[in-house]
Amino acid sequence: MKNLGVNIDHIATIRNARGEDHPDPYLAAKFVSKHGADSVTIHLREDRRHINDNDTKKICSLKKIKVNLEISTNLEIVNKALKFKPNFICIVPENRKEITTEGGLNLKKNKKKIKEIMLKFKKKNIRTSLFINPSISDIKISKKLKTDCVEIHTGKLASLVKSKKNYKSELSKIKKCSLLAKRLNIEVHAGHGLDYRTTKILKNINEIQEFNIGHFIIGESTFIGLPKVIKNFKKIIK
Ligand code: PXP
Repeated sequence: MKNLGVNIDHIATIRNARGEDHPDPYLAAKFVSKHGADSVTIHLREDRRHINDNDTKKICSLKKIKVNLEISTNLEIVNKALKFKPNFICIVPENRKEITTEGGLNLKKNKKKIKEIMLKFKKKNIRTSLFINPSISDIKISKKLKTDCVEIHTGKLASLVKSKKNYKSELSKIKKCSLLAKRLNIEVHAGHGLDYRTTKILKNINEIQEFNIGHFIIGESTFIGLPKVIKNFKKIIK
């Protein structure tokens, strides 16, 4: 069975557009969970452009919901994450000017720092994941860093599919990386830019255990509601 992680950052984006309390990401976490999400993902960004500290604290305190907290390697954020104790953490690169996470981590350059951060989370029994590009060398470095999981950045594949360009080579990279990771005993996740079509393509990669999807789910729910969108994705990845 593959799992669906629902990223609810953009519930906070809508709330923040008015600077008031509605819609509340804490209630959204409970709602998506009730409607079939296997986990809830939130990204506490350095600039707090969507989810804020209070949301993170409240959502991480939910006992019955698996919470996946995405964080950069910024020390202030790492310390917050250690305090809030989510079930899972996923380390992602962060660049102030980006609209969204544009690529995977530069593992080669940041190996030492990432290893130290991961150790802190392992000591607290928090599942660790690294957001990486579909690169064989990054899978090998991830193994050395003793991560529990990798999340493969699917943004390039998604934009090739959406613009009707040839995506076979990108798909083949994702497949090869997934196979190697699984062989090295690393759990494989996939995320970024996914919609129904790209998820249908990727669900054929048996090694992928979890999909983390945000923007499309929240956007599509405007038309058909969150329960129906979640149901559709669960049917696709079944
Ligand atoms: N996975 C990771 C690690 C992310 O950082 C994000 C958000 O950028 C997502 C998944 C979800 O991406 P999207 O909102 O495009 O579905």
